[in-house]
Amino acid sequence: MKISSNGNGPTVLSKVPRHVAVVMDGNGRWAKKRFLPRVEGHRAGVKSVRMIVEESRRLGIRYLTLFAFSTENWQRPRDEVSSLMKLFAQYLESELELMLKNDIRLRAVGDLSRLPKEVQHSLQKNFDRTKDMQGMDLVLAVSYGGRDELVHAARRIAEKARSGELDPDSISEATITEHLYAPDVPDPDVLIRTSDENRISNFLLWQLAYSEIVVTPVLWPDFSKEEYTRCLQEFSGRTRRFGLTDEQLAQGAAAAK
Ligand code: FPP
Repeated sequence: MKISSNGNGPTVLSKVPRHVAVVMDGNGRWAKKRFLPRVEGHRAGVKSVRMIVEESRRLGIRYLTLFAFSTENWQRPRDEVSSLMKLFAQYLESELELMLKNDIRLRAVGDLSRLPKEVQHSLQKNFDRTKDMQGMDLVLAVSYGGRDELVHAARRIAEKARSGELDPDSISEATITEHLYAPDVPDPDVLIRTSDENRISNFLLWQLAYSEIVVTPVLWPDFSKEEYTRCLQEFSGRTRRFGLTDEQLAQGAAAAK
């Protein structure tokens, strides 16, 4: 059992997820409500990124994956794309020391070759500097698409089959997993999506097969520590069956004792 505080006294989380994945949605609507340009919503969203990284680390969550920019987002207005790229580069520069101090390893998944050179360099610098950190892996999904990741994996598997390195009959679920962008990262236990949208939006299509989905109406820039705790409590209260019956789960739990 893990104890955390939400500012109103201690909060009990009966289960701390190993891997939390987040679709950070609603920046545009947050800005629109305030008659501000969309980029101001993204800028305000960086504060929530900072909060969730620190709080996840504090709670002992081992992997945190944030959907920062999708393959589809490249089609947004040029100004918005370039502002987002600048925000990513600034974030990487400003957070490096905090990552080192908090024992956080930075990683990224996606087609990074499409990113501006400046962002690629900042990412590489942070990967190199944080590679030995072991407290938490912060995985940024940038220029990421779940279908794109599966196409990428399929191509690499096909190349190995063509060269004779791999027998097509031996291809299993594990083979697909091994060819994903971050094969060692376990599947998310929980997917949190803000701004009341009930969609996966091409995020981690393979990995989310058995993840619990928690949707909150809060827009990403307003996503607070308290709301994060509430989402994790909602996850804690769920029974995960992985396709089994309640009876089978109870038998499994008894056998494990
Ligand atoms: C979705 O909201 C959000 C994005 C496409 C960008 C997410 C970026 C950030 C939270 C800021 C910086 C991130 C890092 C990692 C430093 P939306 O624009 O689709 O919102 P809407 O649906 O209300 O229009």
